[in-house]
Amino acid sequence: MDTISFGTKNIYAALGQGTWRMGSDPSVFAQEVEVIRYGIRNNLRVIDTAAMYADGGAERVVGEAVHPHRENVFIVTKVWPTSASYEGVISSLRNSLERLGISYVDLFLLHWPSAQHPLKETLRAMTAVYDNGWAKAIGVSNFNVDLLKQAQQFLGSIPLIANQIEYSLANRAAETTVIPYCQDHNITVMAYSPIKHVNSLAQHSAERIALREIASKYGVTEHVIALAWVIRNPGVIAVPKTSHKDRLLSNLQALSIEVNPEDGRRLDTIFPPASGDLPVRWL
Ligand SMILES: NC(=O)c1ccc[n+]([C@@H]2O[C@H](COP(=O)([O-])OP(=O)(O)OC[C@H]3O[C@@H](n4cnc5c(N)ncnc54)[C@H](OP(=O)(O)O)[C@@H]3O)[C@@H](O)[C@H]2O)c1
Repeated sequence: MDTISFGTKNIYAALGQGTWRMGSDPSVFAQEVEVIRYGIRNNLRVIDTAAMYADGGAERVVGEAVHPHRENVFIVTKVWPTSASYEGVISSLRNSLERLGISYVDLFLLHWPSAQHPLKETLRAMTAVYDNGWAKAIGVSNFNVDLLKQAQQFLGSIPLIANQIEYSLANRAAETTVIPYCQDHNITVMAYSPIKHVNSLAQHSAERIALREIASKYGVTEHVIALAWVIRNPGVIAVPKTSHKDRLLSNLQALSIEVNPEDGRRLDTIFPPASGDLPVRWL
C-alpha cells in the first residue's frame, strides 16, 4: 500500500478525504458524515477541510464524523487568506476548532498566499497557535518554491510540513519545481482536485479512451488510474472528495495499483508534462 508521513512520524495511506462542497445542504449532512466515517474505517484517515468550505459547514460535517475516532485521524484545516492577519488567523482557527468540536487540529494551512496580509505576520500567528497546541503542525497551500522558502524562514525552527497544491494528469505544473523541492525538504505534498478532470473528459476524447483502455487492463475505473498516477510520486498524498461510499471504495484501489512503465509512458503522451511552473495567485 502507498503511504506517506507528515513530518517524522504519522504514517498514513497516500489517499485522504477531501470535503469541498460538503456541509452546504442539510438534507445530505448525515450521508456526508457516514461517507467520511466509512472512509476512516477503510483507512482513509487524513481528512482535509477548511474554514471557507460552505462557510464552516464542511468542518461541522467533519466534526460529527470524527467524533468517535479523534485519536485515529489526521485533521487538516485552513485559514482563508483575507483572514490571515495575526488576529484573524487565531480567531479563524478558534472558530474552526469549535465547529470541529476538537481541541487541536493535526495540521493547519494557509489556504492561499494573501494579497492583503504579509506572510511574516500570518506565520507569526501560526507560530502562536502551534506554541499553544491548537495546531500540531503547520503548512501552506498553493505555494511555489520561492514562497515555501520564505515561509520556512519565517517559521524558524517550526518545520513547514505540507504544501497542498492542485495536481492531476490534467494539471502537471507542480511537477516542474514544487514537487521536487518538497520531496527534497520533507514537505508532504497534498494533491487536490486529483480526479475531477476525468468526469469532464468527453467519452470519445483521446484522453478518455486511453484512460479507459489502461483502466480496463487493471480491472479498475479511470478515476483509480488517475489517482494511482498522482500518488506514484513519493511523499504525495491525494485528497479526492466523494459523497458516495461506492466511489470511495472503488477509489481505494489506487493504493495498491502500480501503473507499469509502458502505461505510464502512454499517459505521459496523452497528458503531457506542463511547460511552465505552478502559477501563484494571491487572494
Ligand atoms: N487547497 C486548495 O486550494 C483546494 C482547492 C480545491 C480542493 N481542495 C481540497 O481537495 C479536495 C479534492 O479536490 P476537489 O473536490 O476539487 O476534486 P476531486 O476530488 O478531484 O473531484 C471531486 C469530484 O469527483 C467526483 N468523484 C469522486 N470519486 C469519483 C469516482 N470514483 N467516480 C466519479 N466521480 C467521482 C465527486 O463527486 P461525488 O462527491 O458526487 O462522488 C466530485 O464531484 C477538496 O474536496 C478539498 O478538500 C483544496
